[in-house]
Amino acid sequence: MSSRTLPRSFPKKELLMSYKPLYHIFSDGAFLNDPNGLLYENGQYHVFYQWNPSYPGGKRVGWAHRCSTDLIHWTELPPALLPDNWYDRCGCYSGSAVMKDGKIHLLYTGNVRDDGCERETYQCLAASDDGEHFTKYAGNPLLSGPAAGYTAHFRDPKVFADQNGYAFVLGAQTTDEHGRALLYRSPDLLSWKLDGALQFDDPELDDFGYMWECPNLFELPDAATLQKHAVLLFCPQGLKPWGMRFRNRYQCGYIVAPRTFNGTGAFIGGSAFEEIDRGFEFYAPQIFSAGKRTLMIGWMGMPEEEDQPSAQENWMHCLTVPRTVWMENRKLFQWPVEELDGLHGEKQSISLLPLENEAAKLPDFSGACYDMRLTFDTTRAQSLTLSLRQSEQQEIRITFADSVLRIDRSRSAYAPGDPVREVRLRHPEKLDLRILSDRSAMEIYVNGGEEVFSLRCYLEEDAVHTHVGIQGKAVLTKGEFYPMHA
Ligand code: FRU
Repeated sequence: MSSRTLPRSFPKKELLMSYKPLYHIFSDGAFLNDPNGLLYENGQYHVFYQWNPSYPGGKRVGWAHRCSTDLIHWTELPPALLPDNWYDRCGCYSGSAVMKDGKIHLLYTGNVRDDGCERETYQCLAASDDGEHFTKYAGNPLLSGPAAGYTAHFRDPKVFADQNGYAFVLGAQTTDEHGRALLYRSPDLLSWKLDGALQFDDPELDDFGYMWECPNLFELPDAATLQKHAVLLFCPQGLKPWGMRFRNRYQCGYIVAPRTFNGTGAFIGGSAFEEIDRGFEFYAPQIFSAGKRTLMIGWMGMPEEEDQPSAQENWMHCLTVPRTVWMENRKLFQWPVEELDGLHGEKQSISLLPLENEAAKLPDFSGACYDMRLTFDTTRAQSLTLSLRQSEQQEIRITFADSVLRIDRSRSAYAPGDPVREVRLRHPEKLDLRILSDRSAMEIYVNGGEEVFSLRCYLEEDAVHTHVGIQGKAVLTKGEFYPMHA
């Protein structure tokens, strides 16, 4: 294979001063996990998240709060919830937001460990008059403990309003250790009744992990048929790896019902469970509506995987960028919100670059914070490799061969467990990649958002280059590169 460096138009040197992302939400000096309470109201986007400012010395989890009018510039507001009541003293765990009487209402799980270290779980409410300061409901908790037949792993209410009032889905575990999503209903957000566990027609889901965390229940129209479908998106724990599937420590995926949601627990799952992200770090996402758009933000982390180099800088984990979500033929697609283009610097581009048994360096396409789009015609290629964020020692490597796209981060400073994730593409004749690189965070969108890989990538300062390698013939039909500015 021959190797060439394409002429570059201007020299560029970007110093990677730290692992801290420029345009992904993280919390400096703190531990961040699940996004909570995602809401669009009155021209404002609200993002809350699980936040432990005592990290790394201790654990005191509350909800941090940020808001934005454009999804790219975020203002930090006072923490919305702190673990200062008897029913949430060991943590204000995950939950969600809904509007009622013009006020933001938050539903969340109060986590308590009793003196014997046994877990107690309470579902709680807080509300705000000004969208900034939240007061916990005097009648808390709304639910004291789990329903009969369930353990104290009973958390993460995701609330919504419908024609029958309010409802939430909740992550739960049966006493014989099977994960479930429960539906509760309320006329007023204050008194709640269990409707039942969501029902599926796929028997595989009866025994599908020992706990389901962070469920979301929502509806989407299918772009192919225009028919609306209910979707359950959730995070089952305890699934075994199976071929290319379920390679993360814990999973996150969805089931599409053949119909809309009928308001009760009789949700009949039509499709098989499909992972929403192919790894490595994606968990506990929340879905919310913003005008005509359905948006999603996920946690770019994984429970119990905290041994990351960012610990040296006293922070841990980040969120994904906001993504638009839609459905085509009962499959969910994702794409970064278009507002992100507002962070673009000067565009570099390539068109119609033929490649034949060679490796080419794309010198204009270099940096650590960028938005890069590459479209290849691969009909005559045996394989294609793409080295991202490459230095002499390091890279994130993408390989595409026999319809399988593979991401390998073994040559980076954080690769716990299996350093490879793979997916078989449904339309392998072309390969369209959009790569969001943000220092130690990377999101890879494949073929128009049909597949997404989210990962943390810890790389040295000079790991900024992009290389393409082809066996056989291929054409880089279009390449666009934008440095990203905060
Ligand atoms: C998911 C999760 C939730 C819980 C929260 C606690 O990552 O375990 O189930 O509410 O994190 O921080």
